Amino acid sequence: MTITKQPEPAQRSGHLLQRAWRVLCREGARSFWFKLLHATCYRRFSLLERSLTEPIPDIAPSLPVTMDWLTEVTDYFSLQTTDGEPQRKHNQRCLGARVNGRLVGTMWVAVSHAWLHSFKHELPLAIGEAYLFQAYTDPAFRGQAIAPAMSAELLRRLREEGYRRAIRITLPENQAALRAHAKAGFRKCAIIRRFRLGPWQIVWQRKL
Ligand SMILES: CC(C)(COP(=O)(O)OP(=O)(O)OC[C@H]1O[C@@H](n2cnc3c(N)ncnc32)[C@H](O)[C@@H]1OP(=O)(O)O)[C@@H](O)C(=O)NCCC(=O)NCCS
Repeated sequence: MTITKQPEPAQRSGHLLQRAWRVLCREGARSFWFKLLHATCYRRFSLLERSLTEPIPDIAPSLPVTMDWLTEVTDYFSLQTTDGEPQRKHNQRCLGARVNGRLVGTMWVAVSHAWLHSFKHELPLAIGEAYLFQAYTDPAFRGQAIAPAMSAELLRRLREEGYRRAIRITLPENQAALRAHAKAGFRKCAIIRRFRLGPWQIVWQRKL
């Protein structure tokens, strides 16, 4: 068992200030402002879409990768994701990508309804629509087109099952995700915003 000491409050606020300063210097005032709002009452995400009736590109990662549905939740947790949101509901599945048997990437798909974890909000899905979420590539394997190849594989599997449209959301600042998803043909189609005040929240969408 590992016991780690929690930082003192003064140390924690020091870390926060350092982080805020880093964001301000590296990403500029606009990104800093949105991240501050994001951490408090206001959130916004880009909604991306992709028709499955359009051709799905063949994307070859730079490493030999095999892909299949994950059957074990423990498998999923061997590759820790950002906010560790275990799914495994009847309408959700996770595709895993492996290099030499090691799990290096995961991507979830939901049908019938999408739970927007970041908004704590449910988005109803139309018949024939699928929601892709929580794309994750092991940091040591990023930049090798694993996530776009997984998207393409998921899209092909969904098309075979009769789905016609795929959507996903991402932070507008998440350039790596936007680039990865664009390779699989996803384009921004709307901005979803959420404003929260205490127990109340309002979520709205603006088409682009
Ligand atoms: C977003 C993510 C899934 C992309 O996965 P990937 O397998 O690296 O995808 P790609 O290889 O197509 O790389 C996408 C972009 O990441 C950036 N990138 C390249 N090498 C990288 C590296 N070593 N580390 C981090 N990012 C890198 C590049 O901008 C690249 O775009 P480019 O190839 O056009 O230059 C991955 O970065 C990730 O897991 N991020 C953390 C979780 C997250 O943000 N998920 C997205 C939720 S919508």
